[in-house]
Amino acid sequence: MRIIAVANQKGGVAKTTTCINLGASLAYHARRVLIIDMDPQAHSTLGLGFEPNELDRTVLNVLEPPRSPYHLELKEVIIPTRTPNLYLAPANIDLAGAEYRLIDKLGREDFLNSSIQRSNISFDYILIDCPPSLGILTVNALKACREVIVTIQPHYFAMKGIEEFMETMDLMRENLRHDPEIYVLITIADVRTNLYREVVEEVKKYFGGHLFETVIHRNIALAEATSHGVPVIEYEPSSSGAQSYLNLAKEVIKLEEKKSGERLLRRN
Ligand SMILES: Nc1ncnc2c1ncn2[C@@H]1O[C@H](COP(=O)(O)OP(=O)(O)OP(=O)(O)O)[C@@H](O)[C@H]1O
Ligand SMILES: [Mg+2]
Repeated sequence: MRIIAVANQKGGVAKTTTCINLGASLAYHARRVLIIDMDPQAHSTLGLGFEPNELDRTVLNVLEPPRSPYHLELKEVIIPTRTPNLYLAPANIDLAGAEYRLIDKLGREDFLNSSIQRSNISFDYILIDCPPSLGILTVNALKACREVIVTIQPHYFAMKGIEEFMETMDLMRENLRHDPEIYVLITIADVRTNLYREVVEEVKKYFGGHLFETVIHRNIALAEATSHGVPVIEYEPSSSGAQSYLNLAKEVIKLEEKKSGERLLRRN
């Protein structure tokens, strides 16, 4: 089971769009996928066609300490989406309360991780949609994952934001002894601009081979699909957005082979 957090503390850089559409594209390639919505804005929940306020079992129940009367196991909050193979652990605005409810709890960074480890769920992929902050919800997601996809929109301050993000990852390595692999995806790109070329050069310098070859161009079908509550491959399969996310899924799947090769090497 590959557990991937989609993160960046900057808002509006296509974290949610990537979770929904990478998730649906992996499902299209016959993988069983769970999206965990860790954002109180509940955009993944909305974008998959659910009304967050009508849900009474959410990720917040999973983050409650096991002895709390509100606690539920991850398995108990998972719902199927209309897309075959694609499942959701939904959120709603109540999740905003998690920041202060968890703040004085021992092991607060580990609640999501331990609930995933405890639950005997079988998915090929878990994608975790993070909120635009580096608070306790994002830290729970980063602690639970083994890989992170950082989405970057080519922008003057994009690299500055990434430095801050990498500092958080350094803290995590030092204090929580957790060191997930980091990959970068360029999103909402206007590829003809000089700015695009400059940002790509910088990202390549910093992340080398961990930059996905697939670039997600600016494509209106992606925004429209989310507002209709469906992944873009169902809304407009011929759009560049749909094709790009299918390509991204292929790249992510290719890493499966690399990873199992590495595991075999380690074992021998
Ligand atoms: N490739 C794209 N082309 C055009 N619009 C896009 C693209 N990707 C995302 N968008 C739109 O940009 C906006 C921000 O995207 P999204 O909600 O996925 O970002 P986010 O990083 O999850 O935001 P937040 O930080 O608030 O959670 C949305 O309106 C979305 O529909
Ligand atoms: Mg989002």
